[in-house]
Amino acid sequence: MQTRSIALAAGLLVNLAVAGAAAESSLKDAYQGDFVVGAALNEPEITGQDAAGDAIIAAQFSSISPENCLKWERVHPEPNRYDFALPDQYVALGEKNHMFIVGHNLVWHNQVPDRVFHDANGKLLGRKALLARLKHHIYTVVGRYKGRINAWDVVNEVVDEDGSLRKSPWLKIIGPGYIAMAFRYAHQADSKAELLYNDYNLEIPKKREGAIALVKQLIKQRVPITTVGLQGHYLLGEPSVEQVDTAISEFAKLGMKVAITELDVDVLPRPAGGPTADVTLNIAQNSALNPYVGGLPDSVQQQLAARYGELFAVFVKHRDVIDRVTLWGVTDADTWHNNWPIRGRTAYSLLFDRAGQPKPAFDAAIHAAGR
Ligand code: XIL
Repeated sequence: MQTRSIALAAGLLVNLAVAGAAAESSLKDAYQGDFVVGAALNEPEITGQDAAGDAIIAAQFSSISPENCLKWERVHPEPNRYDFALPDQYVALGEKNHMFIVGHNLVWHNQVPDRVFHDANGKLLGRKALLARLKHHIYTVVGRYKGRINAWDVVNEVVDEDGSLRKSPWLKIIGPGYIAMAFRYAHQADSKAELLYNDYNLEIPKKREGAIALVKQLIKQRVPITTVGLQGHYLLGEPSVEQVDTAISEFAKLGMKVAITELDVDVLPRPAGGPTADVTLNIAQNSALNPYVGGLPDSVQQQLAARYGELFAVFVKHRDVIDRVTLWGVTDADTWHNNWPIRGRTAYSLLFDRAGQPKPAFDAAIHAAGR
């Protein structure tokens, strides 16, 4: 990012600053001592096929998360087969760069093969059998990276929008105790790892009330939960910074650490309404819903910068309880918003543009560190 040297025909070496002054710094340095700053990595970044992306990752970030490679369907695609090829490279990359390495995730209702909940004859599994599968999965995956993966999203999105426990196959078959059991298995497999409950829309009071009740219950049962993950899939105007602020405070009050685990800001129209991160949404494409194919208008670029600035300001305010802020991707070419909730759009949700250059939002994020 620093400066780029261009040799002129005359043989002169001219140093061209390729970006503004703020781009001289890195996110990880700007927030050193406050919290680590992470990015979710996709397959080309993990395997070294995206050299430009890898350069940004090494220069800017002090933590990494796996966008997909540790999800059940990838790491454990068949009953007796685990595939660790990509996760091994992922962890090695984090170790090479001395990063805080995150595992995402152990228990979720998405990206898990349906056969996990059925026996060989297609019959729904009983409670004991499913718990045995859960234990085997967690012991195998967490155990393999014991002492190397520093934090695990143990349960992902287990609270529903109305604050009740999500009616997932996990809940239906095992009952509410599956959450405590997942944490216990993870702790048994690696007693030093930080263990998270991770969810979206915890800024919205109704859902948060349910999450708070859940966390209180886990604490009462002495379940080894350390951290609440706010996914942070935000829009330009929602949730308000006050709501984000309140959510962080409320979980901190319970004695939890807080991590912002999947930060991005979607500037594209949301026909389905306000914030959500329901990965099963799939809305039909039409050009009115894809307004910035040719580039982001400056006015929106500035709104995005202001939004990142105000969000990072809240994170800094809470740096005593926040131990990590992770962006859900590196450049705008990588953001999942290019394909969700509508396929084939041109999204601008992150801090680096499609050419890997820092955006005004990057400068705003650095500036909020106040150094
Ligand atoms: C998303 C990935 O970014 C996509 O590549 C994938 O197709 C679907 O999942 N909440 C989560 C993440 O916890 O795992 C999701 O990641 C985004 C919403």
